[in-house]
Amino acid sequence: MKRLLTTVAAVSVLLPALAVANPATLNHPGRLLASNCFQCHGTDGYGMEHLAGESINEIADELAEMQFESARKDIMAVHAQAYTAEEITLIADYFSKQPK
Ligand code: HEC
Repeated sequence: MKRLLTTVAAVSVLLPALAVANPATLNHPGRLLASNCFQCHGTDGYGMEHLAGESINEIADELAEMQFESARKDIMAVHAQAYTAEEITLIADYFSKQPK
């Protein structure tokens, strides 16, 4: 019974997340990297500071700016500083493809 309740709880938690994921980007090569951003920016880019539908350049430029603000030690700066330019392009491409 406990296992059934756990399963029902897990499915009810996961279903809304599946409902908002954009099927067109489920196999996007940047999705795994972007999953580090999901808890705050949403799987679909609709968390805080909406990223959905922004251009790759807008997102990548913002992250590049944060990389050079070495005095900043907040969570966003630390995230930005952890990725290579290629990884940032992949992540930015993923969010730019989320429907606005
Ligand atoms: C713990 C929460 C958190 C995580 C994780 C996180 N962010 Fe953020 N992000 C924020 C907050 C808060 C802001 C707004 C404040 C700021 O700019 O520092 C922000 C701002 C941004 C901005 C600037 C948005 C704008 O329009 O000015 C971009 C781009 C961004 N995040 C991308 C990312 C990406 C890409 C990742 C994953 C690699 C990520 N964030 C992970 C919380 C987070």
